[in-house]
Amino acid sequence: MSKIVIEGGKKLNGALEIDGAKNSILPILAATLLIEGTSEIHNCPVLSDVDVALKILSHLGCVVKREGQCVTVNCQNVNCAEVPHSLMREMRSSIVFLGAILARTGKAVMSSPGGCELGPRPVDLHIKNLKILGAQIEEDGGFLNCTLPEGFKGKEIYLSFASVGATENVMIAATLAQGKTIIHNAAREPEIVDLADFLNSAGAKIFGAGSNTIEIIGVDKLHDTSHKIIPDRIIASTYMAAVGICGGSITLKNVIPAQLAGVIDVMKQTGAEIFAREGILKVSMKKRPRRISSLHTQIYPGFPTDSGPPILAMLTKARGTSVFVENIFQNRYNYVDELKRLGANIETEGRVAVVEGCSRLSGAPVRATDLRGGAALVVGGLGAQGITTIDKICYIKRGYADIVRDLKMLGAEIKEE
Ligand code: EPZ
Repeated sequence: MSKIVIEGGKKLNGALEIDGAKNSILPILAATLLIEGTSEIHNCPVLSDVDVALKILSHLGCVVKREGQCVTVNCQNVNCAEVPHSLMREMRSSIVFLGAILARTGKAVMSSPGGCELGPRPVDLHIKNLKILGAQIEEDGGFLNCTLPEGFKGKEIYLSFASVGATENVMIAATLAQGKTIIHNAAREPEIVDLADFLNSAGAKIFGAGSNTIEIIGVDKLHDTSHKIIPDRIIASTYMAAVGICGGSITLKNVIPAQLAGVIDVMKQTGAEIFAREGILKVSMKKRPRRISSLHTQIYPGFPTDSGPPILAMLTKARGTSVFVENIFQNRYNYVDELKRLGANIETEGRVAVVEGCSRLSGAPVRATDLRGGAALVVGGLGAQGITTIDKICYIKRGYADIVRDLKMLGAEIKEE
């Protein structure tokens, strides 16, 4: 198993392009099932989670082709409605295929995605609201056996929590439904807007994406389309945290600064100098970051939960003590014990982490526990004196196409071996 090796303590300087967003391409790949033709998707990142989604589409009968950052999916002949357990287990967010498979085939069988490293990952909001739209879903021994006896029919949906995945599943299911669907308390993430843009480019009628009320007027059929995925704001925030802990000055290209407002605000509070204009973000840090007295993760447009681990890692070298409150997931601190092996002073209690900044971290062997926790260990290693080796980097490859390549372009002493 390969590992990442970092010689930390060096300032970062340089520029790089940010890849397409994992959390945008995944629901969009599911949505291609609604198109009985070809979807051409550009700026598609090379990630293991994307590979799993493409395997699911192929398993269902679609013809999938990748040429670099461009993926073409032809869903003319969908001849299966079952997602194998092995693929469901590889990627918890496969649940977002449920609405699409049901809409396309009238039935679906898939295993409950189960928990993951972040704690229980219930899908009750997905199931409850797909049932309201007309699905019959039986949960039997960890499997979801689903049918759609009379097709999806538009309804008013009230999400008890602004779940990203549940909003996406309902949007996809409602696209070809009979009549109008309104989603109240919808998630507002940029990835929701990108999914709506993709579907509308194929002839869907979706209005209000990005606000907390989304209206979908069902249409009979969608047509071929081509779409470019938005940049990955979480990857961008990871590299902002990297320059925050190392010092230096970096330029991130192919970003949408407006989508990073929550992170930019936090970085400015820590003393970073930020220059943002269309598509470009320059981030400089001249000395140790200032602490953040209280940082709450929120639904969009608040500070994103996925940026929490890298930013927390940065604050292990802050001047002062920071308090994190994780409001989205139940168990997002699995990586903290590994970060403490670098000498960080962190105490966690439930959703709260208290980070007492120190002037020095020391390199050590550590192991990734999940995707963003792994990214946090990379940030910690960059800020530690000496050598840090990171094991189980398969977690990191789920969400970063090549974090070693990227950080090398910013001047880091990092390699994969
Ligand atoms: C998406 O996950 C992202 N994944 C996550 O990114 C991200 O952290 C999350 O949204 C929040 O922004 C993808 O888009 C593939 P949720 P999702 O439904 O859809 C609870 C990463 O690192 N909940 O908004 O699963 C759930 O348990 C990943 O890239 C229910 O209770 O997030 C969690 O506590 C991690 N019942 C909270 O809502 C449900 O039916 C947020 O979940 C669904 C969710």
